[in-house]
Amino acid sequence: MKRIVIFASGSGSNAENIIRYFEKAADIKVVHLLCNNPKAKVFDRCDRLNIDASLIDKESFAVDDTVLHFLQEEADFIVLAGFLWKIPEKIVHAFPNKILNIHPALLPKYGGKGMYGKHVHKAVKMHRELETGITVHYVNEKYDEGAIIFQAKVDLLASDTPETIAEKVHALEYLHFPKVIGDTIRTYGKG
Ligand code: GRF
Repeated sequence: MKRIVIFASGSGSNAENIIRYFEKAADIKVVHLLCNNPKAKVFDRCDRLNIDASLIDKESFAVDDTVLHFLQEEADFIVLAGFLWKIPEKIVHAFPNKILNIHPALLPKYGGKGMYGKHVHKAVKMHRELETGITVHYVNEKYDEGAIIFQAKVDLLASDTPETIAEKVHALEYLHFPKVIGDTIRTYGKG
């Protein structure tokens, strides 16, 4: 059984989608969710889905080794689903090619520090892009710069707003992210 720990900071719609996707899987299970925001709606989702969820602070995440040791005990793979903190090097090094993130744009464009949520879709709109999409990538020490695993695109209309762009991107996330996670885990180390 491969165990996934999810990190989230906000609403958690991707986290919910991933948890539900693996609910009946025999070989992969979401065992815990970690969140850095006490007000995040993702905690309500975990209560409803009966998934253990814990609040983490900067100290336990980036200064001492509390979260690192927890992950080394509990996780085989780590999935970031709307998590806003950079992953400390000690965690990246402890989980080589085992940390996956989803970014709501076609990296390397519209990535990096501060580029999350609506900020991304506003920038895509401002640049009059004809398409946008999602990127699933391995996490390294820098924001949004790890090797790309998967991308999916969607066409944009001049009439699209950051809100409608967000809807189109979320639809791609829900459709693809859980399957990409499953495929990545099931082929890990197989050449
Ligand atoms: C998603 O758009 C994801 O691409 C980005 O953060 C957002 C999280 O949304 N990394 P939710 O919390 O899963 O609804």
